[in-house]
Amino acid sequence: MANSFAALLVDALENSWPAVARPNQLPPSGTWWQIWLLLAGRGFGKTRTLAEWVCGQAASGQASRIALVAATAADARDVLVEGESGILAVAPPWCRPVYEPSKRRLTWPNGAIATTFSAEEPERLRGPQHDAAVCDELGAWSRPETWDMLQFGLRLGRNPRCLVATTPRPTRLIRELLAREGRDVVVTRGSTYENRANLAPGFFDQVIRKYEGTRLGRQELLAEVLEDTPGALWNRDALDQCRREHAPALLRGTLLLLKTLAFFKNDRTDIHLSNAIRPGG
Ligand SMILES: Nc1ncnc2c1ncn2[C@@H]1O[C@H](COP(=O)(O)OP(=O)(O)O)[C@@H](O)[C@H]1O
Ligand SMILES: [Mg+2]
Repeated sequence: MANSFAALLVDALENSWPAVARPNQLPPSGTWWQIWLLLAGRGFGKTRTLAEWVCGQAASGQASRIALVAATAADARDVLVEGESGILAVAPPWCRPVYEPSKRRLTWPNGAIATTFSAEEPERLRGPQHDAAVCDELGAWSRPETWDMLQFGLRLGRNPRCLVATTPRPTRLIRELLAREGRDVVVTRGSTYENRANLAPGFFDQVIRKYEGTRLGRQELLAEVLEDTPGALWNRDALDQCRREHAPALLRGTLLLLKTLAFFKNDRTDIHLSNAIRPGG
């Protein structure tokens, strides 16, 4: 009896997150930082790091009102909560939350609550207050104002904190966070290669073959923040200045016409145009 208990304990400890995590997946030391920015390649273990951090915060009582924000509502549910490296998959048996999808809510046995949000719906974050938040794939968020709404509500407890894990697209938001490194932001970095042992060979073959040796590979695998291409006609600052919440009617009409033409020509331009015209935009 005692032996089987000891065996169970050893097994639990050997598989616990502190035992299996790589150092850059564990929370940075110190109490000075408010935002932990984890910039890492695809498959590094970013979502797993978010999920483990949330479980640790909830179980230890360090946070009891947690916001879980992903690029879309489906990502929040399918990846952050129910995904293979999401919260329900990594929560230890002795402290598992109950998930109520209709309320977008996880409740831990000690009363801690986490609520899912979509970055497409910033208004939902107007009002709720939190003492911790996680943001998955910030670089893919379509509406940067979601970040501002989240920050306004991050005001409960003594030291509200936010973990952002993303492949580093050079968006204005990510560049702003990097500029705050050492002040209230701590940055850790990692590459896809570090997690090779835990990735299916098929994934590795596909993703590596696609990106290795390319400029995009430096972003998607090595998590480098790419600056503008030398000699490019458009740079990011100029493009950021042109951003509008709603496209003017004439431009919208032109884009729709181009999109239709591209569709009939079976042209990949279609994909980019679709991104440019958001519903209601
Ligand atoms: N330190 C680790 N030890 C074991 N498995 C890990 C570790 N980090 C990540 N994984 C696993 O690697 C896979 C990819 O992780 P994921 O968090 O989905 O990557 P990302 O979000 O960076 O694309 C998942 O199966 C995850 O559980
Ligand atoms: Mg992920």
